[in-house]
Amino acid sequence: MRKARVLIDRDFAIGQTDPRLFGAFVEHLGRCVYGGIYEPGHPTADEKGFRKDVLALVKELGPTLIRYPGGNFVSGYNWEDGVGPLETRPARLDLAWFSTEPNSFGTNEFMDWCKAAAVEPMMAVNLGTRGGDAARSLVEYCNHPGGTAWSELRRKHGWDKPHDVKLWCLGNEVDGPWQMEHKSAAAYGAVAAEAAKMMRWVDPTIELAACGSSGRNMPTFGQWEDTVLEHTFDHVDYISLHTYLNNYRQDTASFLASPDLMDRFIDEVVALADAVAAKRRSNKRLMLSFDEWNVWYRTRRSRADRVKEGWPVAPPILEEIYTMEDALAFGGACISLLNHADRVRVACLAQLVNVIAPIMTETGGGAWRQTIFFPFAHMSRYGRGRVLRAQAESETYDSSYYDPRGPQEQTFAVPNVPYLKLAAVADDGGGLSLFLLNRDLKQELEVSVEARSFGRLTVGERFELRHDDLKATNTKDAPSKVRPAPLQSVSFDGGRLQATLKPASWNVIHLSAN
Ligand code: AHR
Repeated sequence: MRKARVLIDRDFAIGQTDPRLFGAFVEHLGRCVYGGIYEPGHPTADEKGFRKDVLALVKELGPTLIRYPGGNFVSGYNWEDGVGPLETRPARLDLAWFSTEPNSFGTNEFMDWCKAAAVEPMMAVNLGTRGGDAARSLVEYCNHPGGTAWSELRRKHGWDKPHDVKLWCLGNEVDGPWQMEHKSAAAYGAVAAEAAKMMRWVDPTIELAACGSSGRNMPTFGQWEDTVLEHTFDHVDYISLHTYLNNYRQDTASFLASPDLMDRFIDEVVALADAVAAKRRSNKRLMLSFDEWNVWYRTRRSRADRVKEGWPVAPPILEEIYTMEDALAFGGACISLLNHADRVRVACLAQLVNVIAPIMTETGGGAWRQTIFFPFAHMSRYGRGRVLRAQAESETYDSSYYDPRGPQEQTFAVPNVPYLKLAAVADDGGGLSLFLLNRDLKQELEVSVEARSFGRLTVGERFELRHDDLKATNTKDAPSKVRPAPLQSVSFDGGRLQATLKPASWNVIHLSAN
């Protein structure tokens, strides 16, 4: 059995988690909207066509914020197509996913759905085929109370009160050649700065995120952030970053190490943003919007594959079926996000339903939880509070990470990977939550945690997520094959917690104050 020692002190904090750290993402892609959150005629659909079975699972999952409407989709989207009477809305070819977009769900339906799901909307504007003019009109349509053409149009469409959307993305993955009207950093920076300026003139209360790199292995990473921020630094609050973890090589130990590259990526983007601040002698600190993150590799398709399928409406694409080991890597990513709570203020699990998603549905049928559902639900439920700076001693292993994404394949060395990956969050009620990933595939890990400066604590809820088969999945016919069970071997005495973690397991322990 391996051993690990952890020391935490209630007074030594990384930062408070922002509620927006627990966000997710809904794109017009495959069956995420149509057949996912929205399916008029479904037995559980409400009068607006929202699937109530999906809404119930969304509430259990616990996202706080939803990014919309894309993704790659937004770079060709005319938001005007998705508002107004249904019978006047045009069907359009979507060049991102080679699908037909019927536009029967649009901005106003999304706002209503957010209310039903009790989440905050995060809107992305099209800075691909369109620019600042369409973006500022959308802000006016959504947020201006009335008395102008766009705001009166919203009222005429049936939404009297402004939607008051606070958080806006300035485009999506504009650094990627796959993006409609992909741009150089200088061209994007110039467009984004002007769009931001006008959007904020319409509503000075909004917050804006500039596009950073769509992956750490993009050849332009670093230079992209530097140039984009030279243009946009004074206009934005956030710089974005995206990561999809993969296990292409079927090397599970390395896969479980890969969230450590997210830690590195975050540190690098913070350094890049702060370097731009330093050059300007600015005290402003940009925050990070990790607005797409997940495991994704099995259902990637080339543009050539997409085009062969014609132009279907809501095809079942990117429907990744998640395994037990995916949930472990995913849990590692949750820990990475928590441990950067000081700078990562917004994060969106990509995506929410059907498309690389924690929730799966059958069109016309049921809905169920994928394996990755559980670490996210745990993070959202127990991750609210002050993330503590844990000092951990754990044996390590060396690994590497293969990433074929982007124009060049790359293999990164990931040395000194601790078998224990951990985050500790002190809540406002005096309690403490521990998130513990045992990355050893064979051996148990005996963890000893010394928790200083807390009052009396007692072991409360505790969960373990594991399965003898790392390839186990949840499906329509076996929806609960992988699910959390109570973690048995936990004790807490004299300020010291002892727990034995099973090999390849995700564990959450909540200690409550009494
Ligand atoms: O989430 C799926 C896609 O991944 C998004 O549309 C895009 O932004 C990213 O490349």
